[in-house]
Amino acid sequence: MVIWSVPENFNPSPMETYQDNQGLEYSASSSRSIEQFGKLISSFMGYKPDIGARLKALLKEDPNMPMGLCMKGYLAKMMGLKGLHQRALAIVETLNGNTFNNLGHRESLHIKALEAWCAGNLEKTADIWEEILLHYPHDCIALRLAYFNHFYSGDGRRMRDSLMRVFPFWDPAHPHYGYVLGLYSFALEECREFALAERYGREAVAINPEDAWSVHAVAHVMESQERHQEGIDWIVGLEPHWSKVNNFRFHLYWHQCLFHLERGEYESALDIHDRLLVSDLDSDFYLDLCNAASLLWRLELHGIDIGERWQVLLEAAKRRIEDRDLVFASLHYLMVLAAAGDHQSVNSMMDGFRQWVDSGDTQGQVMHQVGMTLANALIDIRQGRPDRAFQSLTGIRYMVDLIGGSIAQRDLFNMMCLDAAGQACQHLAMRALGAERTTFRPHSRWAWLRYAQALQHAQDQVRAKEAFDHASRLYSDFHN
Ligand SMILES: [Fe+2]
Repeated sequence: MVIWSVPENFNPSPMETYQDNQGLEYSASSSRSIEQFGKLISSFMGYKPDIGARLKALLKEDPNMPMGLCMKGYLAKMMGLKGLHQRALAIVETLNGNTFNNLGHRESLHIKALEAWCAGNLEKTADIWEEILLHYPHDCIALRLAYFNHFYSGDGRRMRDSLMRVFPFWDPAHPHYGYVLGLYSFALEECREFALAERYGREAVAINPEDAWSVHAVAHVMESQERHQEGIDWIVGLEPHWSKVNNFRFHLYWHQCLFHLERGEYESALDIHDRLLVSDLDSDFYLDLCNAASLLWRLELHGIDIGERWQVLLEAAKRRIEDRDLVFASLHYLMVLAAAGDHQSVNSMMDGFRQWVDSGDTQGQVMHQVGMTLANALIDIRQGRPDRAFQSLTGIRYMVDLIGGSIAQRDLFNMMCLDAAGQACQHLAMRALGAERTTFRPHSRWAWLRYAQALQHAQDQVRAKEAFDHASRLYSDFHN
């Protein structure tokens, strides 16, 4: 199948090898390309909104620069859209179909990584990026993309250990040192090493308060430690800085909403949803829909009437039915379709999921291991079969990590499981899950209320009263 024709301006003119100011070598037409590439990497590390414009300007001047093309493919893959996957595939064909006269070792590995990513072999892709980091620990692209990949493997240790392997080689004077600290900080948080995570995150923010990832890493620590008001103050206090980044900023607003939910400030969460989270769905940034879907589902679990808000997300979710990149993201799209009651789209997406399982690619295997079960549970919840949903969710609850994302993001499935237990009148299971959740999250009013209800159903009136009282005290504490 021909999916790519060589563009008219593709002329593999002789290239020279240039070094950037960190000693990394690039094949390029001129030293100016290296300067431009350096600025592109800074934007990439900082989630700046000018990433696309910088790449475009670079490739306009140096259309054959291998790392420029490779970066274009990487960014296309990061968007997770089916159409952009085709664009990345085309770039691989271009890079492999042309002989560059002096392609370096690092560049060759990047091209192989892009090829493996396009083939859906994420293990191999991550291995190649890690191999790059063995030789070139300052390669920000390999570092950031390996991290992204490890994040969606669902094992925070992979992120943390990847950072540990390169961190000693980073000098604080390096212009991207703060970004690396922030990556390290969040990885530590996902490994529940909160003290060091917060220290590194705060250090990174002190270097650059516009570093949204680092602000986010500290917000995660506060979420994990249930420091709700402090979390709001942290995010809001730094908002003039981090809100300059691309759509990743909406994920920080999502975090703010999580804190509001725990404090029972539902109007604040709804306001942020309406004003911000859904303000740029047309850009098709995959995380926007994940944020909004995750928030709406949680609001409903809190008993809040969200009106017609699922319908607001529907068209954007329908555009992602054929995506085959991340099980985590696709499950969030399915949440929207199922909650909006679009049965035809739900069926289409489930047909696609079954094909994904058969594909055998890395995420297809995740879909096989847990994705299909979670998908069926979501549909069962929305279609009034909480007993089946509960059985599904309890059966795989210790495997949900495989879909990746953060602990905070995946916590929604724990909440669904507890709620489904109640809906299915599995009161002993609900009591057990409530006991577990109130132990793990002792400042969660939602957890205490659910636990109290389960105790009441189990005729344990004394403990039920204590749990209700505890929930009331938490509410008073929040608002005094
Ligand atoms: Fe997050």
